[in-house]
Amino acid sequence: MINLKIPKIPYGGDWNPEQWDREVWLQDIEMFKEAGIDLLSINIFSWTQLQPDEDTYDFAMLDDIIRLLKENDMKVCLGTGTAAHPAWMATKHPDILRVDFQGRKRKFGDRHNSCPSSPTYRRFAPRLAEELAKRYQHEDAISLWHVSNEYTGVCYCENCEKAFRVWLRKRYQTLDELNRAWNTRFWNQTLTDWDQVVVPNQLTVQWSDRGMCQQPLVLDFTHFSSDNFLEVYSLEHEAIKKHIPEAVVTTNLMGAYRPYNYREWARKMDVVSWDCYPQPSQPPAHVGFLHDLMRGLKNGQSFLLMEQTPSQTNWQPYNWVKRPGAMRLGSYQAVAHGADSVLFFQMRQSVAACEKFHGAVIDHTGRNDTRVFKEVAALGAELQKLGPELLGSELQSEVALWFDWETWWALENSAGPSVDLHYMEQVARYYSALHQDGISVDVVGPGSDLSKYKLLVTPTLYLLHPEDTDAITAFVQNGGTLLSSFLTGVADVNDHVFRGGAPGPLREVFGLWSEEIDALPPAQKNRVVMEAPLGELQGSYECNLLFDLLRLNGAEVLATYGEDFYAGQAALTRHIYGSGTAYYVATSPEETFLQGLIRHVCKEKGIAGLLPEVPEGLEITRRSKDGKDYVFLLNHKPTKITVDLRDLHLHDLLLDEELSGSIILKGRDVKVCRQIHVQ
Ligand code: GLA
Ligand code: ZN
Repeated sequence: MINLKIPKIPYGGDWNPEQWDREVWLQDIEMFKEAGIDLLSINIFSWTQLQPDEDTYDFAMLDDIIRLLKENDMKVCLGTGTAAHPAWMATKHPDILRVDFQGRKRKFGDRHNSCPSSPTYRRFAPRLAEELAKRYQHEDAISLWHVSNEYTGVCYCENCEKAFRVWLRKRYQTLDELNRAWNTRFWNQTLTDWDQVVVPNQLTVQWSDRGMCQQPLVLDFTHFSSDNFLEVYSLEHEAIKKHIPEAVVTTNLMGAYRPYNYREWARKMDVVSWDCYPQPSQPPAHVGFLHDLMRGLKNGQSFLLMEQTPSQTNWQPYNWVKRPGAMRLGSYQAVAHGADSVLFFQMRQSVAACEKFHGAVIDHTGRNDTRVFKEVAALGAELQKLGPELLGSELQSEVALWFDWETWWALENSAGPSVDLHYMEQVARYYSALHQDGISVDVVGPGSDLSKYKLLVTPTLYLLHPEDTDAITAFVQNGGTLLSSFLTGVADVNDHVFRGGAPGPLREVFGLWSEEIDALPPAQKNRVVMEAPLGELQGSYECNLLFDLLRLNGAEVLATYGEDFYAGQAALTRHIYGSGTAYYVATSPEETFLQGLIRHVCKEKGIAGLLPEVPEGLEITRRSKDGKDYVFLLNHKPTKITVDLRDLHLHDLLLDEELSGSIILKGRDVKVCRQIHVQ
């Protein structure tokens, strides 16, 4: 368990006192106390104040801020401040400026603007982190180190191109091997010298608005770019650890962010933290999935909610204010999925620049009687009341859902089969079906231990490493149930299609192979027709998007297509393999079908949620530690719902009362409970 030196769920967020006079800091501190705030993320964007020129470091203001927080019993999440480089640095050392996808060299401005290969950035960013670590190594007010901020984007400059060549040499050793891996005889892309390797941008391999001709190159470059930014993070991480080996070091991730493989990043982070900014159109299940994805990065260890807005953002097309209760609900949703902190962006609203309309705990009025401030303070009091109970507790899941960045990269780099195929959407559809029934899900991927699960769901598992194939095969062999969908097992790690037909090395597990894959505009539907009832599935269901045309080799047909020239061919199959079972869904069926199928496989494996029936809009999860179980009930609807607790007996930790039988949750209400186990 990560120790942030606060014996309860830490509460607070990004505070930018450098934008204000000292007298405002004092007002802020008083309001923080009123709201139960105890952890402040500071120094996120202050590089120039700390280092006004190449040789000068000035920590006077930061010393003062930290002292003030400490005097007021608050803890510090200390930013290293390297997410936006100083203007003087850009002028003096232009190698720090990125080159964009179009091949244009950037000038100074904005943030997340440093080239990860820049010798200047690699010299000055870790040095600043180290100076901070040296100065504050004995400062016990610091709970957590926050490297940079939301690493973002890609750079296509010449230094990155050179670094890419080094990365490739390490990976492939010889040019022949590189040419093989990239299948360069296609369109005469053969390379005869390492210096001919280019970064894939609009000036090089982009071939249309929809694709890049050298997909294995693009895949490698994406991987390299993720590694390259991770290396820059690691340099700072190590600079801190050199002076404070016990420091807890993190950087704030962004959920399902495609450019970087966060599963690899997490290995180098002491704790996963992430910034959660749902859009109003995003269903609660999707947000739940993102929390589970983040929790899964470190095998279930609790994570930190590093940022969320108390009210509105400034960067969405329409910046809705969170409705009364919505901020509290979102905060507890994070906790219900394993978060051990509730932190905001931001504590005080800026007066100018692009975030002046971004919500804050303290808004432009500076008052403590605004709706938002009052809601923040009320939640602060609740978190104080909950005390240490929930900290470090973990979710237990029997179901694993596979999510892999390399599949995501390869699938969406691909020209064909469909522009409407989005990996996230496919994964989210299966997650939602599980979520709807209150079934706890761990999000896993390459390298995860699968042995503790009963059911493994691998939607559109396009790219397979040999180790993944082995792990998944062993999982089924040993009695697990595997459920996958179209375009599974198509390509290897270099995005070369497996010969002999998908699902490639999993053909035997599924007892089938795919001969063709039809792709139709999403409005054009087919049907999945059940051969016989399967659980609650019977009759026929709509399907669309993609249609694997399967050839069976041992698998049993559970449903067929209803229309087109492949009417009557398999659309859903089952195959017994070893002591386990592998289901294959050949198309993208409507929600009711997925729900029914998930219910069937869960029932077959004895997997059940906490309630036999979860009313629509209710989310239910459980965290456990030291023999105690904590149950969260969240009403995502604005109107009340009635919940029949059946066998669940609960103690409401916030209202200090027992709950059983039929209870009512008001609109957007949350109950945080300890489970009472009756003998
Ligand atoms: C991100 C950043 C913050 C802030 C918020 C605004 O999460 O990390 O600095 O810009 O977005 O929503
Ligand atoms: Zn670069």
